[in-house]
Amino acid sequence: MTPHAPSPHAVDPPAAQQPDWPDPAALHAVAADLAGRPALVTAAECDLLRARLAEVAHGAAVTLQGGDCAETFDGTTPGRIESTYRTIRQMAAVVSGGAALPVVQVGRMAGQYAKPRSRPDETRDGVTLPAYRGDLVNGREFTERSRTPSAGRLRRGYERAAGTLDVLRGLVAERGGEFFTAHEALVLEYERALTREAASGAYDLSAHLVWVGERTRQPAGAHLNFVAGVRNPVAVKLGPASTPDDALALVDMLDPDREPGRLTFITRMGASAVREALPDLVAKVTTSGARVVWVCDPMHGNTVSAPSGHKTRWLVDVVDEIRGFFEVHRSLGTHPGGVHLELSGEHVTECVGGTYEVLPAQVPDRYDTACDPRLNRGQALDLAFELAELYAVSTPDRSEDEGDGE
Ligand code: PEP
Ligand code: CO
Repeated sequence: MTPHAPSPHAVDPPAAQQPDWPDPAALHAVAADLAGRPALVTAAECDLLRARLAEVAHGAAVTLQGGDCAETFDGTTPGRIESTYRTIRQMAAVVSGGAALPVVQVGRMAGQYAKPRSRPDETRDGVTLPAYRGDLVNGREFTERSRTPSAGRLRRGYERAAGTLDVLRGLVAERGGEFFTAHEALVLEYERALTREAASGAYDLSAHLVWVGERTRQPAGAHLNFVAGVRNPVAVKLGPASTPDDALALVDMLDPDREPGRLTFITRMGASAVREALPDLVAKVTTSGARVVWVCDPMHGNTVSAPSGHKTRWLVDVVDEIRGFFEVHRSLGTHPGGVHLELSGEHVTECVGGTYEVLPAQVPDRYDTACDPRLNRGQALDLAFELAELYAVSTPDRSEDEGDGE
């Protein structure tokens, strides 16, 4: 039986991490305007991604998801869009070779404009202002005017997303293949305004896949309630404190029909916790009969400070979490479905390590991120080769040939 799916348009339970909009009337006007505009993606495309992710759930494909932590309006230039797209596409070619499986490519693009924050405010030199919540909400500049949430930004976000999708559709038309978009469903006015009724139910047509983040997955909260009511493939981030009961409750809420491809768990445990925290989750979800997609986000559990004070991540930690993720899935006989990364197609120096090594002292050199540190293009390709090797030895028929040796 399908429990009654809550309407995505209904007035919802409490929503965490929402901006303090100063002008509710302006917000409603913008939301009403967006609700009357063309959708950004189609329900058929969302269904296609759900079918592709079903192949991942069955172990017959792999998914690569990546892009900026926070896209910015200024950063949506054709050159940057293309460099992110090309990086994911090249990674996919490498991983597909190693895994001997098709790769489902998903960009954190065309809507990844809003960020949850650990603190609602930021203080500099005795001045306290609202924290930057992403270009969909306010500006990065530390002034009262810039940090005040502005509803007009939802419209600008919609327009930037539409432009980004135009560029992506052109690239896909030129080069072939498939490419899907995803973002965190965080600012509910935006997500609801782009939700449309189709014959088979409501779809959030701002992206093919939307996910709920680690900070907004409260069981009775508005974000889970929203994604429960849409037909898109959806994902939820799971941090190291997640319990098997949390995961099982998410399966019941978001995937009551046990439909492969509907639900992805993006685990972000940290390199030091993944080997302890992940096995129980995967084992209990698998025993329950659910066929979710398991994806590793090796970024968010491995954030540290560089000597300069910048937030950074070490590629060795990122690789270690991915190896741990593979070890756990190999030992349980489940499929390591893929990875979810923060990456740039440019030569940024936000993360440490890589073949073309970024040293800790070099982190400030080209630190362009609006939020978390991203792998640069070279580091992303390093990781793709690592993944290709891991898949080559974790494909069951091949590992049998190799026996139990080192
Ligand atoms: C993110 O993906 O940028 C993010 C905020 O992740 P998480 O919800 O896992 O912390
Ligand atoms: Co991030």
